[in-house]
Amino acid sequence: MPARDPDAPPVLELRRVVKSFGPVVALRSASLVLEAGSVHALVGENGAGKSTTVGVIAGVHRRDGGRFEIDGEVVDFASTAQARDAGIAVIYQEPTLFGHLSVVENIFMGRQPRGRVGIDRRAMRDEVLRVFGRLGVRIDPDLPADGLSIADRQIVEIAKALTLDARILVMDEPTSALSGAEAERLFAIVRSLRDDGRAILFISHRFAEIFDLCDTVTVMRDGAFVDTVPIDDTTVDELVAAMVGRDVTELYPKQAAPIGETVLRVSGLTRVGAFRDVSFEVRSGEIVGLAGLVGSGRSALARAVFGVDRYDAGRVEVAGAAVRPGAPAAAIRAGMALLPSDRRRHGVVPAMSVARSIALAARGRLARSGLLTSRAERAVSRAWVERLRIRASALDAPVGTLSGGSQQRVVLAKWLATGPRLLIVDEPTRGIDVASKAEVHRLLSALAAEGMAVLMISSELPEVLGMADRVLVMREGRIAADLPRDAATPEAVIRAATGG
Ligand SMILES: Nc1ncnc2c1ncn2[C@@H]1O[C@H](COP(=O)(O)OP(=O)(O)OP(=O)(O)O)[C@@H](O)[C@H]1O
Ligand SMILES: [Mg+2]
Repeated sequence: MPARDPDAPPVLELRRVVKSFGPVVALRSASLVLEAGSVHALVGENGAGKSTTVGVIAGVHRRDGGRFEIDGEVVDFASTAQARDAGIAVIYQEPTLFGHLSVVENIFMGRQPRGRVGIDRRAMRDEVLRVFGRLGVRIDPDLPADGLSIADRQIVEIAKALTLDARILVMDEPTSALSGAEAERLFAIVRSLRDDGRAILFISHRFAEIFDLCDTVTVMRDGAFVDTVPIDDTTVDELVAAMVGRDVTELYPKQAAPIGETVLRVSGLTRVGAFRDVSFEVRSGEIVGLAGLVGSGRSALARAVFGVDRYDAGRVEVAGAAVRPGAPAAAIRAGMALLPSDRRRHGVVPAMSVARSIALAARGRLARSGLLTSRAERAVSRAWVERLRIRASALDAPVGTLSGGSQQRVVLAKWLATGPRLLIVDEPTRGIDVASKAEVHRLLSALAAEGMAVLMISSELPEVLGMADRVLVMREGRIAADLPRDAATPEAVIRAATGG
């Protein structure tokens, strides 16, 4: 890294930045200083204003007040193109590539170098391969972006930032959809970019990775700056206290519940290429954890049980009655609900109101009781907004205007509003801040105590072990172990998941 002039201004500085959306004040006083050669974490509860801060930096939002400087010069980006030209690149949780275009075409979108005859494809391809080489990744540059995993799509975005020679990289929850190994690969790349002298802003709800990767951390609360400290001078407890301004209660408030009759019975379920001969039961009052590595077949199994995907053999029963395969509507009528892991794509319609979004899946039930009015919709939604503490300015606010974590809760509310007998949750606390995780756990525990059967997929081992009465471990499409709570130690689960 080139030696830095100690008197040089920071690469990026925000000072008391203000941003409102109509009546909603998203940023009251956001401040942030980024230095070259540093990985800087930005933490805060859901709705604290992290993504809005990113929006200001990226030219998506225009600030209403405060200062924004790059290299000591005041800037005011009117577009994302202006931010890009100033050396800023943003990597989002869900990369925004064009699915039908190739990797190369995406990287050079709108700025193809010209050769003698039209666009110089060879030069573009060589440049992409050079950058991939530098990043130490192997991705086929001719593949359409659609065919890539989320992790690879993020790397394509990073490669794009490098070809643009971005000096400031902003990553808004980049790891929330990645497996452990994919996240590790991303961190290796982030470290090499840092050593290169770039400034990186890293947003995450996962403290382990923040302490592993970042050197500095800024805490935000309610749209305002709280503190910036070197990572070595703080602890998780201190950060959490600064984020929430209060003490956080126990993270896994598991309560004992009477276990009743079988609600879900899955027998011999097979979907070729995804899972094979899977049989298990979930009983009333029981939380069954479904552990396993990413790709072991857990989400595919959940989608088949709920009828989103078809299966090739086997049977799904709820309360003793067979559920028609491949028909989510039938599953909902049978009393099932599925909170999918990919909630951006399958969860919400951004333009739909909070009230309608929550009441949507419960419509059948509301209509049967003769209640399908917007009043009923609002009443049902209001109850869940309160119970899940969803931060929305109004019930008729579009879901797309909520923070990422609040949108996640809207999807959870939507499924809970159907009053299911069996609730399948796939990564229920993904994207939810650390302080609110305990609330989601408390809710799941309370629902089980009220007699609901819960099947919980989670890649967070402590969450599975903390909440489940029984842990099923999947490996390569099969149930490799069925462990009662007492036997479900981290070692036992990992051994079953890896076959080690
Ligand atoms: N386009 C918009 N219109 C109205 N309100 C908005 C808009 N964008 C954000 N907000 C509001 O601004 C506040 C801050 O949201 P922001 O997305 O910045 O939070 P965040 O810190 O990124 O949270 P999370 O951890 O959940 O992603 C929230 O109350 C949100 O509802
Ligand atoms: Mg956000």
